[in-house]
Amino acid sequence: MLKTLRFEPLKESHISAILEIEKETNAAPWSERSFRNELDHKYGVFLVGIEQAEVVAYGGVWLVIDEAHVTTVSVAPASRRQGIGQRLMCELLDRAKAAGMVCSTLEVRAGNEAAIYLYKKLGYDVVATRKGYYPDNKEDAVVMWLYNLDTWEPPRS
Ligand SMILES: CC(C)(COP(=O)(O)OP(=O)(O)OC[C@H]1O[C@@H](n2cnc3c(N)ncnc32)[C@H](O)[C@@H]1OP(=O)(O)O)[C@@H](O)C(=O)NCCC(=O)NCCS
Repeated sequence: MLKTLRFEPLKESHISAILEIEKETNAAPWSERSFRNELDHKYGVFLVGIEQAEVVAYGGVWLVIDEAHVTTVSVAPASRRQGIGQRLMCELLDRAKAAGMVCSTLEVRAGNEAAIYLYKKLGYDVVATRKGYYPDNKEDAVVMWLYNLDTWEPPRS
């Protein structure tokens, strides 16, 4: 049961907890420097989910002209399947929409069913595949787009 989940912009003090989650979560983990680049990013939004004073999730988008590019989204393994990933994505999309973005895109590993289901639930469609896109294991990337961000509303459940 999520009692105190809230989202706040990335701060320096979040980074060590994020790096711990990132190691467990991402086959090609972002470096500390990559996260630091997201601090106060002029054309980005990067949010951290906090539940009971612990970092449980993080994710970001870059605002590119009128497109919101999702750069990363992760929920700590012990906190999954409680709706946190969906709430995080909804926060990111709401903020991107408020910043004037009219569509959103992302790449996801073709075998990452959980993430693909999440993005489909939010309204993204699969539009292309990039063969062998990921250098660590040559896995294909699925390219997904949400075209109507300007009129987008979060799913009801
Ligand atoms: C993908 C990820 C962010 C989902 O976070 P989460 O908090 O567990 O997801 P939620 O509980 O908010 O689930 C929302 C929806 O996503 C889908 N979903 C999430 N996990 C799923 C799973 N294991 N299997 C199938 N569908 C899943 C479902 O549609 C779910 O809706 P439902 O509960 O009504 O069925 C999480 O699994 C994660 O951090 N994975 C590792 C990092 C990653 O792959 N990031 C994406 C990179 S592009």
